[in-house]
Amino acid sequence: MATVSLEKVSKSYPNGTPAVSDLDLEVTEGELMVMVGPSGSGKTTALRMVAGLEDITSGTLRLGGQVVNDLSPKDRNVAMVFQSYALYPHMTVAENIGFALRLRKMPKDQIRAKVAETAQLLGLSEYLDRKPGQLSGGQRQRVAMGRAVVREPSVFLMDEPLSNLDAKMRVQMRSEISRIQRRVGVATLYVTHDQVEAMTMGDRVAVLHMGRLQQCDTPQVLYDHPDNVFVAAFIGSPAMNLYEAAVSADADQLRMGSQSINLPPEVLKARPALGSYRSKTVVLGVRPEHLADAALGAAPESGTSLVVDVELIEALGNELQVHFLIDAVRAESQEAKAATETEELVGLPIQGGGSKTTGVARISPRSALHAGSRATLHVDTDQLHFFDPTTGSAIWS
Ligand SMILES: Nc1ncnc2c1ncn2[C@@H]1O[C@H](COP(=O)(O)OP(=O)(O)O)[C@@H](O)[C@H]1O
Ligand SMILES: [Mg+2]
Repeated sequence: MATVSLEKVSKSYPNGTPAVSDLDLEVTEGELMVMVGPSGSGKTTALRMVAGLEDITSGTLRLGGQVVNDLSPKDRNVAMVFQSYALYPHMTVAENIGFALRLRKMPKDQIRAKVAETAQLLGLSEYLDRKPGQLSGGQRQRVAMGRAVVREPSVFLMDEPLSNLDAKMRVQMRSEISRIQRRVGVATLYVTHDQVEAMTMGDRVAVLHMGRLQQCDTPQVLYDHPDNVFVAAFIGSPAMNLYEAAVSADADQLRMGSQSINLPPEVLKARPALGSYRSKTVVLGVRPEHLADAALGAAPESGTSLVVDVELIEALGNELQVHFLIDAVRAESQEAKAATETEELVGLPIQGGGSKTTGVARISPRSALHAGSRATLHVDTDQLHFFDPTTGSAIWS
């Protein structure tokens, strides 16, 4: 039985804004479920409905199997975990952790025992007499979680708890929160707009866009098999390259601008549905790591490479991120556009007119490519992604 279950849950605000539409989601016992999506996609609204801070317009919310749509927040046994700075600075760690129990008028010796037990679980036993100001960021985060744990909630809810921290701290806190969550074993719904945070922390990740669930699965499945163009563009950094491509009459070739890629028969065999796109357009997706500098490899199979103009190379030590221009049309589905917005803001001006667009490849640091050179990039045709240009849905079986 799922600890948290949302069934066709929708929320429209009084001003008519549909913030969440028909959301189906289950968080199982002990699971860390991350809900991720761009700003305004409905994450906070969904979380607040689970907490009982926001009315549900339609649908069913269950906690531990019981319908709780109309239950007040305090009767739901859920705990919102706040950012570390929400600790009371003048109270000791022990007082901070025990605060909720004191409000409940629990006897002092019982509070002491509960606090000690919680501190033990979180590795805070040595710090009980300290004030938050005397703790590291990681320890403060643990105290913040301790305040929630001590109430023995059946669900943890966290809304972008790391958004105000600097990059280094964020990485540290990510693993800290995951570790504590696993130790405590409480079902957790964690909200973030940061797909890297989602991928590194989530047992499963639910991708939200415009109030609708796009896909919910393990991080690896989202990455390897995105269900639609939105998920494909949103998950992964640098983002997947997405271009319009024409499928040949025999479905054995893709044409993009002036170039073509031969499709080995296995590609069609693995995705029979691609057969119905003969002589039609698809959205082709190529992850940056599935492109390679053809000059480095053995002679590539003919017809499986793209000729591009290198605009900029970022050397990361372990790899080169090659930003290029290609004679192709970027797939401008509305969905993908929203996800790549920030990327396009820093995109390079496109010179020479025509239909050139940008792309990124992650290639070996041994490559001799440099800005201004023309490159032949080998395409790993086993790893291509195909999407319907109208619906944005992945083309699989
Ligand atoms: N109190 C509110 N009244 C009206 N509209 C709201 C309110 N809160 C959020 N919204 C709208 O609902 C949508 C989802 O918002 P929100 O749940 O905050 O998204 P996220 O947390 O993913 O950024 C947005 O369009 C937002 O403008
Ligand atoms: Mg929000």
